[in-house]
Amino acid sequence: MYLGIDLGTSAVKTVLVDAAQRVVASRSQALTTGSPQPGFSEQDPAQWIQAAFATLDALKADHPRELAAVAGIGLSGQMHGATLLGADLKPLRPCILWNDGRSAAECAELERRWPGLRAATGNKAMPGFTAPKLVWIARHEPEIFAATQLVLQPKAYLRLVLTGAAIEDVSDASGSLWLDVNSRDWSDEGLAATGLSRRQMPRLVEGSAPTARLREALAQRWGMIKRPMLAGGAGDNPAGAVGIGAVRPGAAFISLGTSGALLVPSDRVAANPERIVHTFCHAVPGMWIQAGAILSAASCLAWAARLLGASEAELLAPLGMRPSAPSPVSFLPYLSGERTPHDDAEVRGMLDGISHATDRSAIVQAVLEGVAFALADCRDVLAETGIAVTEADVIGGGSRSRFWLAVLANVLNIPVHRFADGETGAAFGAARLARLAVTGETVDAVCTAPQRVETFAPDRALASAYAARLPHWRSLYRPRQTQNVAIGSVTKR
Ligand code: XUL
Repeated sequence: MYLGIDLGTSAVKTVLVDAAQRVVASRSQALTTGSPQPGFSEQDPAQWIQAAFATLDALKADHPRELAAVAGIGLSGQMHGATLLGADLKPLRPCILWNDGRSAAECAELERRWPGLRAATGNKAMPGFTAPKLVWIARHEPEIFAATQLVLQPKAYLRLVLTGAAIEDVSDASGSLWLDVNSRDWSDEGLAATGLSRRQMPRLVEGSAPTARLREALAQRWGMIKRPMLAGGAGDNPAGAVGIGAVRPGAAFISLGTSGALLVPSDRVAANPERIVHTFCHAVPGMWIQAGAILSAASCLAWAARLLGASEAELLAPLGMRPSAPSPVSFLPYLSGERTPHDDAEVRGMLDGISHATDRSAIVQAVLEGVAFALADCRDVLAETGIAVTEADVIGGGSRSRFWLAVLANVLNIPVHRFADGETGAAFGAARLARLAVTGETVDAVCTAPQRVETFAPDRALASAYAARLPHWRSLYRPRQTQNVAIGSVTKR
């Protein structure tokens, strides 16, 4: 029996997976995010621990026999967060999250200090990544920077609490911007450019490697008599990839979680930081992931539900199974800025084309389409990098909506596939990594592709209607800074 714990942004989800790779039980516990200033995004690490423990306590209550049989635990988590620990290994401040936009100026500063940044990390410095956040901390909270003994991403902090060991896997470490993605090791030059050194970093392992055993006291609390081994685990998207067997070159998939991404595994580094292609080490050895990443995906639908005072299901039900034509409304999904392709932390969303005739469904459809258009931008920058996407699996909460999958198939003009619930998800991938760490089986033997339950093929007329709409949608983007300086004058990009 294996456990996968996904420390997401909106919830911690824990799944129990048996030897036949069936999900025996799962529990989740919601998390809240604070925004002390516009563009800031933070979480209290104590909340992660309480939530993770609550999922395990709940599993203990009704699955004690299965928990007793757990041999391995895999962690996955939201990437890029800066969890800063003092000498007592306690957080010095709330964690600054992946969708926090405060450190744009520090990105330029970091690239100046470290000219080799893009070549080493495969990425452009963007506020989402961890390193610019530390440059911001050094500038704005120097006493906290001076006290920082250890910098961990969220799931590495959870591992520290669970095991007492400071260890990170290379996929999540890629999101720090201190990792040399070719050598899969910390870059001393990059750390020095931020005023840090290896001493403040966790030890690195591959995602499928063993790390440390669950603390004795916690093993007793949950009746895990085998004192399970924790695997390296993975960032949420690489873990999701492991869950659906996307561990071979070219196995493209789309994640529709709080954030969104179009991701393609590869057996070599094919970086294109100038066009905001993300390059991360994969969770399995000898593999990487190239991705276009958007900051708001399913969170746009959650926003619409809050705004319109209805549940997401209530919003989706009237739309039916598939669109008959694009919505007359266009939506830019840049609710917390955007990474691919703009790298613009300041830009915000937009609804365009609303009239007296606009009803709720037109807006909801526009929201789903706006996210799909943003993923078309990701598809195009990957194509410029020489990575062609001809079909894609879809994972994440958004993949439950058939209407959204039909929109995606037509906007991207490719077949998209979905899986039965439960088999997908980062927590399931993390449980697979736990199994690899414990048994030493091959990646191919464990990371098989689950059965696809449905394929959504593009419709020729609808796909060309969306292709005709894409240029208008793209024309709506104006860099926020240009907007600000261009008031009263004509802005031309
Ligand atoms: C990837 C990214 C997100 C976060 C939160 O670059 O920022 O996937 O990990 O889901």
